[in-house]
Amino acid sequence: MKTSADLDSSLYQRLDDYIESVKEKPGILINVLHKAQEIFGYLPDEVLEYVAEKLDVPVSKVFGVVTFYNFFSRKPKGKYQIKICLGTACYVKGGDKVFERFLEELEVEPEEPTKDGLFSVHPVRCLGACSMAPVVLVGEKDFYGRLTPNDVPSLIKKYREG
Ligand code: FES
Repeated sequence: MKTSADLDSSLYQRLDDYIESVKEKPGILINVLHKAQEIFGYLPDEVLEYVAEKLDVPVSKVFGVVTFYNFFSRKPKGKYQIKICLGTACYVKGGDKVFERFLEELEVEPEEPTKDGLFSVHPVRCLGACSMAPVVLVGEKDFYGRLTPNDVPSLIKKYREG
């Protein structure tokens, strides 16, 4: 299978090692896809084709599984994933305007990484912190509450400057 020059061959080697270690086990497709996402950061088409070939399953089945489960992502994400809650409590307190401001400031479409790969912006459902609405989560644990669109530039700057 031909692989793209964009994806490091050592990453494929790690995936091969994993497949080798689990290939005797039944029902390993989802585990292998999880591992592939952990290694590559997302699941581009060529990786899905590679997995199909390695496991000897139809490509359509692999694409079907990835499409079915929303924890799989077929697009690259930014280093900092900005999740903006658009659940009811956040929406009525202006979450949609905060969301729009992030897109505008970063000049991106939802779910797409910025050109420098630093950020991607994701609309999400209730983050379980409605009393702080509107809520934004950066990465896995940086919560920000009661944000206004005017807070967005300084928040971005904070992460840009590391
Ligand atoms: S609706 Fe946004 S945290 Fe609950």
